[in-house]
Amino acid sequence: MNVKKLADLDVAGKRVFIRADLNVPQDEAGNIVEDTRIRASLPSIRYCLERGAAVMVTSHLGRPTEGECRAEDTLAPIAVRLGELLGKPVRLIRDWVEGGFEVRAGEIVLLENCRCNKGEKKDNEELAKKMAALCDIYVNDAFGTAHRAEATTHGIARFAPVACAGMLMGAEIDALTKATENPARPLVAIVGGAKVSTKLTILKTLAQKVDQLIVGGGIANTFLLASGKRIGESLAEPELVKEAQAIMDMMKARGAEVPLPVDVVVADEVSALARANRIPVDEVGPHDRILDVGPKSSAKLADIIAHAGTIVWNGPVGVFEHNQFAGGTKMMASAIAHSEAFCIAGGGDTLAAIAKFHIAQDIGYISTGGGAFLEFLEGKKLPAIAALEARFAD
Ligand code: 3PG
Ligand code: MG
Repeated sequence: MNVKKLADLDVAGKRVFIRADLNVPQDEAGNIVEDTRIRASLPSIRYCLERGAAVMVTSHLGRPTEGECRAEDTLAPIAVRLGELLGKPVRLIRDWVEGGFEVRAGEIVLLENCRCNKGEKKDNEELAKKMAALCDIYVNDAFGTAHRAEATTHGIARFAPVACAGMLMGAEIDALTKATENPARPLVAIVGGAKVSTKLTILKTLAQKVDQLIVGGGIANTFLLASGKRIGESLAEPELVKEAQAIMDMMKARGAEVPLPVDVVVADEVSALARANRIPVDEVGPHDRILDVGPKSSAKLADIIAHAGTIVWNGPVGVFEHNQFAGGTKMMASAIAHSEAFCIAGGGDTLAAIAKFHIAQDIGYISTGGGAFLEFLEGKKLPAIAALEARFAD
């Protein structure tokens, strides 16, 4: 991908505007529950600060109503965390689009939630021009938001004097390209989650490329239905059975496979107190809900993973939040950790599983993207990256 890179630019004394993705999960009191995205944004920020740039950073947080900034929309807790990580105070600027605030060389300010500005979501040109006027260099480091064409991710790149990719954006592009172009084989994809419908495009794209497509969660249940199994009251989408069948047929025709569970863990409810039963997949009763893969299936998945060359991981295979349904995902996580394959992982649930099973250090690359990660793997052109490519030559 031809984009200008921050590391190649002289930023000394320049006004640098960094669009980061600091959209982190918070509890009801606004405390940050998980700060991976903030930490992942540090290298670009440090690079600019150490070289004496005047640094402005902004991000969205949630999906606020434009023109309002409610208490739950503010980046204030993020300014605090960023300050702790950088070891210097981070001033939060509330109304910033029209300028009128000073940033010294070597100083960093955080510009309040960019989605509170009218016109952000629709990529308004006037707004983009005003924001571009604030800086000498625009840096897009928000890979997690690269699938959105908004004023801070897209429009501003057209009007800023220079537009480049930050270090996180560059690392994401490199790692995801490595896993998709010429991957070491066998290439194994793991796609878990509740619904086939939300991941149909990615399943179809992967079905044309991968050697094994491991499906998990509600997605696997729909595939089990398609292969003629009874699934009781398990979460599934019967209306997508034909699509699931087509994917399995396509894989088979290529000599590839969708390994389906031979045993499962069932219960009659999803709760921390639910009683779990391990049974062969042919013994699922009319009131059972499949909530994890069983030990035989886990062992088979572990074996596939052990022999993989490249692994792309998005989504758990069971309801791993509850320990009695965590076995399959835990076994898989451990197999990935021990495998010599290059593994890229992305998506909120996947990151939570990586944290729960303490395997972060054993994953080749952990993407900060959820939707953006999937769209990149689908081979789509992400609008934020396209906007940087358009500014490569000048
Ligand atoms: C995400 O969390 O996936 C990104 O920050 C994008 O957020 P959005 O889905 O609200 O655009
Ligand atoms: Mg989201």
